[in-house]
Amino acid sequence: MTGETQHNLRGDYSRMRPDYTVEQEWLGYSPEQHELWRRLYARQAALIPDYACDEFRDALRDLDFGAAIPRFDAINAKLEPATDWQLVAVPGLLPDLTFFDHLAHRRFPVTVWLREPAEFDYIVEPDIFHDFFGHVPMLFNPVFANYMQAYGRGGIKAHELGAIEMLARLYWYTVEFGLIDTKRGLRTYGAGILSSGGEIGYCLESPQPNRIGFDLLRIMQTLYKIDSYQESYFVIRDFEQLFDATAPDFTSYYERLKEREPYAASTVLASDKVYNRGKLVSGAI
Ligand code: PHE
Ligand code: CO
Repeated sequence: MTGETQHNLRGDYSRMRPDYTVEQEWLGYSPEQHELWRRLYARQAALIPDYACDEFRDALRDLDFGAAIPRFDAINAKLEPATDWQLVAVPGLLPDLTFFDHLAHRRFPVTVWLREPAEFDYIVEPDIFHDFFGHVPMLFNPVFANYMQAYGRGGIKAHELGAIEMLARLYWYTVEFGLIDTKRGLRTYGAGILSSGGEIGYCLESPQPNRIGFDLLRIMQTLYKIDSYQESYFVIRDFEQLFDATAPDFTSYYERLKEREPYAASTVLASDKVYNRGKLVSGAI
């Protein structure tokens, strides 16, 4: 999600404004980059009907941005009237507080650079394909859009309370890797999954990972993997559940959680609502 330091990050941070925004400079993308975008989009869009929630699928279909790298201003002309969000261009990962402040003001930071062709299947840092394809369609859903703003405000508070780690786990297991229980079966709304060619099928169909019912405090106590597919995914019933569960003041939650040891990513608890008990043992994949 975010990092406190810009060292060794891939973007060009030399020309940004104080809030870390830059111009998208859309005319600077090469024909090869637009072609790579088309290939990434085509591969991923073909997987969406089977694996994405309806809200994502419908927004993607309406936006139809597969022909070339999209212009942020063109999408903003649709996004602002829909949910009052806007995209802002950024060089890459942001410091936590900068990121939270953008979200709190209904601005979603989108990285301007595109991965290299050799990174077609896997990329370490989020690029424009992940940020755009994975995150932007969900910002058209009013409840999810409100959740994202509330998360940003909550982040500023968590920073003051020394609880960023716990709140970051919530982002990871919802915004990036969340599953949702729908009439058509389990689907995903998580950007890290939706922009991944491999994990989108894995998270829903593989017997290996745990699929567990959403439980706010349990999630904020659970470690996650950043360099492999997730060992556990958490399932919401609907976006209202997510919004309502996160509405209370987290201050006392953080106090309680600070006294506890975090769970490993592969842990299954007796209290979990288990959709699938994974075949992974702790530490192995
Ligand atoms: N309600 C949380 C708090 O008081 C903020 C929050 C909202 C966090 C939505 C995450 C998601 O800290
Ligand atoms: Co992301």
